[in-house]
Formats: sequence, structure tokens, C-alpha cells
Amino acid sequence: MFLINCGQELTKNMKKHVYLRTFGCQMNVRDSEVVAGLMKKAGFALTDDETKAGIVIFMTCSVRQHAEDKVWSEIGRISKPGRKNRGAGSVRPVIGLIGCMAQNYRERVFERAPSVDFVVGPADIDKIPGIVKKILEHRSVSKQACGLFDLKIWETDGLGRPEHIYHTGFYEEKGHAYAVISEGCSNFCTYCIVPYVRGPVRHRNAQDIIDEINKAVAGGITRFTLLGQNVNSYRSPDPLNGKPVDFVSLLKHVNRIEGVEEIGFITSHPRDTTPRLFEAMAEFDKVRKYLHLPVQSGSDRILRAMNRGYTRQEYLKLAREYRRIVKGGILTTDIIVGFPGETKEDFCLTRDIVRDTEFDAAYIFKYSPRPNTQAEMMGDDVPRSEKERRHKVILDLQRAISRAKKEALLNSESNL
Ligand code: SAH
Ligand code: SF4
Ligand code: F3S
Repeated sequence: MFLINCGQELTKNMKKHVYLRTFGCQMNVRDSEVVAGLMKKAGFALTDDETKAGIVIFMTCSVRQHAEDKVWSEIGRISKPGRKNRGAGSVRPVIGLIGCMAQNYRERVFERAPSVDFVVGPADIDKIPGIVKKILEHRSVSKQACGLFDLKIWETDGLGRPEHIYHTGFYEEKGHAYAVISEGCSNFCTYCIVPYVRGPVRHRNAQDIIDEINKAVAGGITRFTLLGQNVNSYRSPDPLNGKPVDFVSLLKHVNRIEGVEEIGFITSHPRDTTPRLFEAMAEFDKVRKYLHLPVQSGSDRILRAMNRGYTRQEYLKLAREYRRIVKGGILTTDIIVGFPGETKEDFCLTRDIVRDTEFDAAYIFKYSPRPNTQAEMMGDDVPRSEKERRHKVILDLQRAISRAKKEALLNSESNL
């Protein structure tokens, strides 16, 4: 798609500087590092000052409507001529929308936000430096011939990521790195857009993950978080003997790497989590005693409608086993309130599971219908005010639990 352009040209310095803003989960945080690493390798520099950047990239999230709304409004703000700190008549930067929203809207992004220059989905992020260069070149040529057109590029059909993108050595934090172990998700929880925007699950080869971690250790990093939508479904051939390795064996391999001091992981899906993982957490000295185990609902009827693959009782049993085996371990969760058809009785079951499990923290979300998902077809029948009420009930309850736990901890420490 092409649009008319007759603006000024970006300065040489601006053409070099990239401002990258990240929305969404840790996967996106890691993907932004990957993009930053690739851009640096291609000769660009990063800046925290949006006004100095000739290239502005939004790494986006589609998990709830609210997450998308924030990005549309940011793009609107940045596209305004003469916006704050840029001065009147300022040049519009090259704007990229990448990540999950890019995959959700594809080229339709240009209709909704005509100032966006490129759209790149999660499986195509390796192509970003080349795309940016192409757009910058085109802008110079079109400026000289004033009146030519803006070039719009979208890449959303990639099937996978080349392994090399994980090896640029760029990590945002000093001592900590995220390491992707699995991309995508094939679980199709009925409310969730992730399988549609991130594609089916693909596990990275264990040897590649270990190589990445070894290199990061050589660069001074000691703490790692292994990332996947469902880390417990991890499978790959063992680097030592070619036999399949599962997540617990991968943890064992990483635990053995010299220089690694701490290993965390997110997210665990209750369907694939077993006490064997808890035993490994208790045994492997470097593994953090922290488990994020999203329950989503306490009602079997709703869990079934969500396609979660476990019952309330199975979840409670897992939580009990975790607490028994991983002494003093932290347990956190995610909850959705107002899923289609959630009655007051269903909701009370969720409230009770939060009360009884005494999570260390809970992230509570109001159900948001997502395009193409099965739940979208179920109708969004819990009124917004009722979702808000339910959200507040769980939030207040969890706050009281967290406060009581903190006080108990402080008291036990002061008795030492
Ligand atoms: N892979 C992780 C979660 C990824 S999304 C897992 O399976 O647990 C993070 C959280 O967002 C989910 O756990 C869920 O609680 C919430 N979420 C996902 N889709 C949602 C939707 N349509 N509406 C509201 N919350 C949603
Ligand atoms: Fe979404 Fe379910 Fe996959 Fe998590 S496991 S990303 S909630 S489909
Ligand atoms: Fe959002 Fe994509 Fe993560 S939809 S939650 S950024 S995988």
C-alpha cells in the first residue's frame, strides 16, 4: 500500500537512532532485546529519548483489548505533526508496529493507523533491520523527487525464527537474561489469542539454549529466566545422547552450567505440571523456589469451557504438593473474572480457591473477548460493572492475604 508523502527529511543522526517501546509479557521483553540486538548489529543505535529517534518501534500485545488500545493511542500521539518536544513542522519518524498486534491486524494496521510504515509479526522479527533500511532509503529518494509515495511494508507470514537471532548477546539487564525455550502455543485455551498470533508451539533445541546461556555467562550474566507459554511441555533431543529431554531434564542441564547462579522459569501450565518438577525445584540448588501456576477459575464448569485441561481438585492437589515438596516456595497465579457464562456460583468458587490456596500474588484480569477465539463465539454476557465488582472482590481478598503473609514473615524474622 502506498500513501502520498511530501514532508521534510529526517536528519542523518535521527536516521541512526531507534526508540523501541515494549508492551505485553516477558516474551515481548525478550523479543525487544532480540530486535535491539539485531538493529545494533546492523549499525543502528538505541535511544531512550523518543524525540531524538528517527525510527520508533512498538513491540505490541493483543492479549486483552486494553493492551491494544494503549498502542493505538500511542501511535496517534506520536504521529501528530508538531507534537510535544518535536517542534512544529517536525518530521514524522519511521514508525513500526511489531509483535502480537502486528500478527492480529496484519496490513489492516495501515488502514487504522496510516502513519505506520511497517508491520512485522513475531515470526518475522529477523527481517526488521532490512525493512527499516529499505524505508529510509525510499524516503530519501522520494524526498529528492518530492511528491513520491511512502513505502509500506508488512511481514506476517513467517513460519519460524532463525536460531541466530537469539545470539546477538544483547540483554537489557546487567546480571539477568531471559532465555526463550519454546515459541508459540498449541493449547488453545478458548479465551486466548496467543496461539493465533504466536503460532503453534516450537521448542528450541536444548543445545542451542545451553549455548546461548554459556555465551551470556561469559558476558557476565549469572541469573536466567527460561521462557515459554507452557514451559512444562518442553521437548527436545538431549545434547548428550540424542534421547528426548523434557523440561525437568533441561533444568538439570542448565543447573549444571558453571557460572549460572540462579534459574527461574515462566509460565507453568497446571495440565503439564507434575510433582517431578517440584522435586527438581527442591533438589537443584540454583532453581528459584518460585512457581507461577495460573488457575484462571475455581469452577470446573468454567475450566472446561476454557479448555484448561484440569479440574479444581487437580489444581488444589498440585498446589498442596508444591507446598509440601518445595518448602517455603512462592506460589503465584492468574485469574480471569467474567468469562462467558460465569455465574455468581462459579465466581464464588474462584473466590474460595483464592482464599484457600493463599497465593503469594495473583494477577487478576477482566475477561476481554478476542477475535477468532472460541470464547468470542460464546458471547460476552457478564456485564462490565459485574466484571469490575468481581475483579475488586478478588483483588481485595488477595491484598489481605498478601498483607497477612508479609506480616507473618516479618514477625517470624523478628523472632529469630
Ligand atoms: N501462557 C500463560 C499465559 C499467557 S497470557 C498461561 O497459560 O498461563 C497471560 C494471562 O492473561 C493468562 O494467564 C490469562 O489469565 C490472561 N488472559 C489471556 N487471555 C485473556 C482474555 N481474553 N481476557 C482476559 N484475560 C486474559
Ligand atoms: Fe494462552 Fe492457554 Fe497458551 Fe497460555 S496456555 S498462552 S492461556 S492458549
Ligand atoms: Fe501479549 Fe503476545 Fe505476550 S499477546 S501476553 S505479548 S505472547
